Amino acid sequence: MKNPSSEIGTIYGVGLGPGAVDLMSVRANNLLKSCSFIAFFRKAGRPGHARQIVSEILPEKVKEYPMEYPVTTEIPLSDPRYKKIMGSFYDECCRYIKSVIESGEDVCVLCEGDPFFYGSFMHIYERLRFEAPIEVIPAITGMSAAWTATGLPITWGDNILTILTGTLSKEALVDKISTTDAAVIMKVGQNLDKIRAAITLAERESDAFIVEYAAMSNQSVCKLVEYTKAVAPYFSIIILHGETK
Ligand SMILES: C[S@@+](CC[C@H](N)C(=O)[O-])C[C@H]1O[C@@H](n2cnc3c(N)ncnc32)[C@H](O)[C@@H]1O
Repeated sequence: MKNPSSEIGTIYGVGLGPGAVDLMSVRANNLLKSCSFIAFFRKAGRPGHARQIVSEILPEKVKEYPMEYPVTTEIPLSDPRYKKIMGSFYDECCRYIKSVIESGEDVCVLCEGDPFFYGSFMHIYERLRFEAPIEVIPAITGMSAAWTATGLPITWGDNILTILTGTLSKEALVDKISTTDAAVIMKVGQNLDKIRAAITLAERESDAFIVEYAAMSNQSVCKLVEYTKAVAPYFSIIILHGETK
């Protein structure tokens, strides 16, 4: 898609929703049906989850820029090398995307869930927001699909909902879980043991659900106390529901 009104194209951060193509917004769908250039993050050697969500709707001749993470879980987030390697990677992605829009073409950056909610797209956004036209298309988040999959409402009345990540320390998790009504714990994966221990210490273990692949064809919902895997998949979320008061 050429941008007819200016010489420079626009970067779109396109939220795709939690995984089912029919949970995507009409705005995102319209944009993607007529786009000519997409960029998306993926783990090296994988097709890329965001890319897979849109495979049925993209035009045939769309140009693609896969942005392959140089590291994922090999180096801890706290290691200064992680920040340096990822920083150079995002700089390089931005250089390339900028060169495409400078040729007058728009770029749709595919984002799982909502772009502004723990999304890698935010690294592109923060680097280019004052240098390039950039628009963000919001979307249904993975957590929304996850609590819906449990068949129970997440918050009632004046319940407080706390959103946590499994990368926090056990102490921080216990503290936050003990002082909230409802909680969503993202980034479960290899942090499962630590999260489980924190939920037990906060005396909420009988309430917790784990949802894998919410709104995807392989979705599964399980009470955490009945979940036997040692490591959860990347796409999993733990849900603690609030209660009516
Ligand atoms: C980098 S965050 C991206 C969040 C995304 N931007 C969103 O709006 O949901 C990745 C984490 O989101 C969670 N996640 C996102 N979509 C999910 C889904 N459909 N099912 C289960 N977990 C999901 C998982 O905890 C995963 O580790």
